[in-house]
Amino acid sequence: MVKITYVEHNGRPHIVDVPHGASVMEGARDNGVPGIEADCGGACSCATCHAYVEQSWVDRLPAKQPIEEDMLDFAFATDPARSRLTCQIRVNEELEGLILHLPERQP
Ligand code: FES
Repeated sequence: MVKITYVEHNGRPHIVDVPHGASVMEGARDNGVPGIEADCGGACSCATCHAYVEQSWVDRLPAKQPIEEDMLDFAFATDPARSRLTCQIRVNEELEGLILHLPERQP
């Protein structure tokens, strides 16, 4: 298990244990974290799993693939440096302590 903190737009944190191999989106969805909708179930075709990565984590995550870059165009209020689609980030031990901030709304 890897501890990940999801911070709602109102500042309320949710600290959850996410299994290795799950996506960061699944960690939120399966633990009832509000603010991640994940309408497409992780197929990178909805942009409703958008979150902002804590600045200190930006360079520690795997780079975005082109499909994620393209789909981020449909997300709400993206930040070029910090925005990610959480279904595209696979959880492993290197993500222990990851912090994400959820947007005001999903598209
Ligand atoms: Fe649809 Fe991530 S869950 S793009």
